Amino acid sequence: MESMQRWYEASQRRFSVRRYKDGPEEKQLEALAGMAELLRAHGVRIAIGRSEEVFRPIFLWYGKISGTNSFAAIIVQKDAEPEMAGYVGEAFVLECTAMGLGTCWLGASYHKQTALSAVELSEGERIACITPIGVPDEEYTARPRRSYEKLTGLTAEQFGELPVWQKRAIECARRAPSAMNSQPWRFHAAEEGILVGNTSKNFGYGRLDCGIAMLHLELGAAYCGVYGDWRKEKNGSLFVRA
Ligand SMILES: Cc1cc2nc3c(=O)[nH]c(=O)nc-3n(C[C@H](O)[C@H](O)[C@H](O)COP(=O)(O)O)c2cc1C
Repeated sequence: MESMQRWYEASQRRFSVRRYKDGPEEKQLEALAGMAELLRAHGVRIAIGRSEEVFRPIFLWYGKISGTNSFAAIIVQKDAEPEMAGYVGEAFVLECTAMGLGTCWLGASYHKQTALSAVELSEGERIACITPIGVPDEEYTARPRRSYEKLTGLTAEQFGELPVWQKRAIECARRAPSAMNSQPWRFHAAEEGILVGNTSKNFGYGRLDCGIAMLHLELGAAYCGVYGDWRKEKNGSLFVRA
């Protein structure tokens, strides 16, 4: 419960940081390693690695990430639901934010082989994404998001009439990061809860992106004292109020 409040607040400050002043302090890395252990669930785990080379400039992505050599890998088992990589990974990302550290989900712009040699994988595991971790050297920037009308299919008036917790949940989900900022989701508010539907494959990250939005949605609901569970439906994941 405490973490939910902490992560909800962090969701308002999180943004993708690509330029860093420094890596995290040793004590912060220890605390994050502890959090990574707590978050291990649903076939997803997080491992912290260190490498000078993992953010080495890549053609097309020249100089994308600079100033830190610490990173976390979001590692998934073969049979894990892709949404869970986003769900668990974003909890870790928001914990970093709450500690004053910067992050940036990376699916493409890092050296995969270098990441693989910096963290140990077991049989049947792979790295879904990584994130740098460090002291931000950038000011907060709010990147554009789709309108509530586009995201929900409701008019502004209809959206305004939703219960407060649903509005807050969708508002928080709208802030979720996604690969290429594609926001490949649609939110359907209904009597029994809110459905998160996936609208695009988004270069293979669509369902992972939806998992990030699911965590944000749950944090927004919890902020209003509403807790619940996720139920898998044919057309997406439904957050059902407990
Ligand atoms: C699954 C995923 C993969 C991403 N991959 C990359 C990447 O390879 N390179 C990069 O610079 N940013 C990457 N991003 C960051 C997004 O571009 C960023 O989250 C989005 O533009 C929204 O901006 P914000 O995070 O500042 O709100 C990725 C984000 C997600 C969720």
